[in-house]
Amino acid sequence: MFENMGWGKKSRLSQIVKSDGRAVMLAIDHGYFMGSTHGMERPAEAIKNLLPYVDSLMLSPGIVRNSVKPDFGKGMVLRASGGNTILDPDIDDEEIILPAEEAVKLNASAVAVSIFVGSEHSHQTIMNLTDMVNDASQFDLPVLGVTAVGKALKDKKEVRYLSHASRLAAELGADIVKTYYCEGFEEIVAKTPVPIVVAGGPKLDTYEDVLTLCYNAIQMGAIGVDMGRNIWQSDYPAAIVQGVNAVIHKNFKVKEALELVESLCNEETKRREDFLVTAQDIADSKVH
Ligand code: R5P
Repeated sequence: MFENMGWGKKSRLSQIVKSDGRAVMLAIDHGYFMGSTHGMERPAEAIKNLLPYVDSLMLSPGIVRNSVKPDFGKGMVLRASGGNTILDPDIDDEEIILPAEEAVKLNASAVAVSIFVGSEHSHQTIMNLTDMVNDASQFDLPVLGVTAVGKALKDKKEVRYLSHASRLAAELGADIVKTYYCEGFEEIVAKTPVPIVVAGGPKLDTYEDVLTLCYNAIQMGAIGVDMGRNIWQSDYPAAIVQGVNAVIHKNFKVKEALELVESLCNEETKRREDFLVTAQDIADSKVH
């Protein structure tokens, strides 16, 4: 993996993909088009207990400067394309929001650019990726190509479309591709000659579903996840992130990882109950 690269790029990629060839990326960049998102209202708070269990963060340049300490000690993939909000008719009218030089100034491990293949602004987004690959090459800065769908393409999270979009991203020079997991995922891996990470997507119903997604993606050839809402919108983010980490880095099966998550949830519930101030506690305190 990453054989034909310069030292600088390899070094940066090693902050994202660990020595076992796997990657746990925590995606917290949603605010770049969603604004304040449930679970990520206060990014610094939300990631505090999760950082020990992730290899890198994927986030927007403003949140790095405002919510992350410079010595936080993890890899960092900076969102470099954007320009839309969920209030727009669609979110594919993107441009480059962060030049490679600025990303290097922020000490990024990589930059992320979305392509919306087949959307109204498809060509523009493909050129965003192409331009960024050329710009980033000056600095040996890796590029993560994201196969995004937006509103018009929301039904395209299927193997034929995602294989096509992922292959395009690789052909244009993305060092890693981020796409969605779907039925037949192994075909996407087979047709994409660079490592793939999968997004989590909107919150799934159960922890078992989240762990199964991670497990299946890894079994079918993904190198890891770039997951957000299924971690930080969960009731027990620090527990599920440890389960995800165990599937990816420790080869846990779903059942083992689920047992780990459930025991961590139980411990956390106990801790919360110990610190819970009940109406009775308040009534009792009035006695003194
Ligand atoms: C796209 O790149 C998005 O901004 C997110 O980074 C991505 O969708 C991963 O987050 P989630 O697991 O919440 O889908």
